Amino acid sequence: MAQTTNGRELPGERTKFLLDETAMPRDWYNIQADLPTPAPPGLHPGTGQPLGPADLAPLFPMEIIRQEVSQERYIQIPPEVQAVYRLWRPTPLYRAARLERALDTPARLFYKYEGVSPVGSHKPNTAVPQAFYNKAEGVKRLATETGAGQWGSALAMATQMFGLECQVYMVKVSYQQKPYRRSIMQIFGARVIPSPSPETNAGRAILAHDPESPGSLGIAISEAVEDAALRDDTKYSLGSVLNHVLMHQTVIGQEAQQQMAMADAYPDIVIGCTGGGSNFAGLAFPFVADKLTGKAPQLRLLAVEPAACPSLTRGLYAYDYGDTAKMAPIVKMHTLGHSFIPQAIHAGGLRYHGMAPLISHLVAAGTIDAVAYPQTPVFAAAVQFARSEGIVPAPESAHAIRAAIDEALRCKEAGESRTILFNLSGHGHFDLGAYDQYLAGDLQDYEYPLAAVQAALADLPTVAR
Ligand SMILES: Cc1ncc(COP(=O)(O)O)c(C=O)c1O
Repeated sequence: MAQTTNGRELPGERTKFLLDETAMPRDWYNIQADLPTPAPPGLHPGTGQPLGPADLAPLFPMEIIRQEVSQERYIQIPPEVQAVYRLWRPTPLYRAARLERALDTPARLFYKYEGVSPVGSHKPNTAVPQAFYNKAEGVKRLATETGAGQWGSALAMATQMFGLECQVYMVKVSYQQKPYRRSIMQIFGARVIPSPSPETNAGRAILAHDPESPGSLGIAISEAVEDAALRDDTKYSLGSVLNHVLMHQTVIGQEAQQQMAMADAYPDIVIGCTGGGSNFAGLAFPFVADKLTGKAPQLRLLAVEPAACPSLTRGLYAYDYGDTAKMAPIVKMHTLGHSFIPQAIHAGGLRYHGMAPLISHLVAAGTIDAVAYPQTPVFAAAVQFARSEGIVPAPESAHAIRAAIDEALRCKEAGESRTILFNLSGHGHFDLGAYDQYLAGDLQDYEYPLAAVQAALADLPTVAR
């Protein structure tokens, strides 16, 4: 193994770029203000007509609905939300000098580390404002889904802080793979049940058809949406995909811009993994603004997804339902079909059939590129990163690491010194079973599920637009 820096002099450059609390962003950045053409509107799942605020009101508080469609460039972060953010923000930006040495690359690698949040990922950046706005509008209880358990943990923490109840439908395969994520949610007072569950019509319908269903984010979303739609005291909360969620995450990229300036650097490439797209957008969108406004026209933006669930690289850019039971809005996105159930890869947070409409729009416009990897090379990159930088990454985040390492190796071949920035969206302390499997050589890669995707894509909604 040539992954250590033993016997080699480490560079004298700074390792961490830390911001004072006073430098934390006071506003979220809304990319909708800067898009050359607006993203296509969401449609009502029943009528196929453009969604209005009244359609969304059973699911979301009014302020969230306002943010979803807002064209304002900046939206103020409420002081109450800033106060909670300060528990872990600003997050550090690292120069991965030890990894550079291990790779023997002339590239400069930087990463923004969101795993320092209390629950270990970027997810609280939106969980906190969502809980805050619901509380402010008198909501008593939130229902949500979770894949990897990172989002469920984040919302459980946030609801607990603002005095709301929380019901989490956890994708069954993750519920079994990650019992301790469930414990975290329960410590914060959330009720967690494996999805598909017998508690909803959507869950019962899936179980009747396939009692052994491993679940999927699409199914769990259906259950949580149904729960919220049928109860007056409950609203729904989504941890990715929607415009307001991506916007809440832009604190990441705004901080990173200040920190890259401290390092006297600007990225040539910005990389993030994509499940529904929120951590990638959070880091990338403030930089996308630079690209769109001509400040950084050559900037490359790279979204990284699993080969087992490759919505951006192999999906269709089409209107589709956000969930399996066709209760969530229809949105135009890169999709593998709302009934597609991805294989049980360990990056549970990347097992979503679709992609954020804003990211899909920018991929379709050629502003953002995408690449897909099978899980074995992703875990190889995760282990190499851990051995160099000392952080065990979440399997989701390791997709970004794989792509960053490959870009750095290309720089080595070409003899080019490029600056690469990636998002380390979370740590993998609850994913050790997956690491054990990888180290034992038992990890399985899945072929692109062409037949399953074709079957699911045959089921797209017919939309008269
Ligand atoms: C650590 C981590 N990174 C990334 C993701 C993917 O979600 P998104 O694409 O919304 O960032 C998840 C989802 O659960 C996650 O837990």
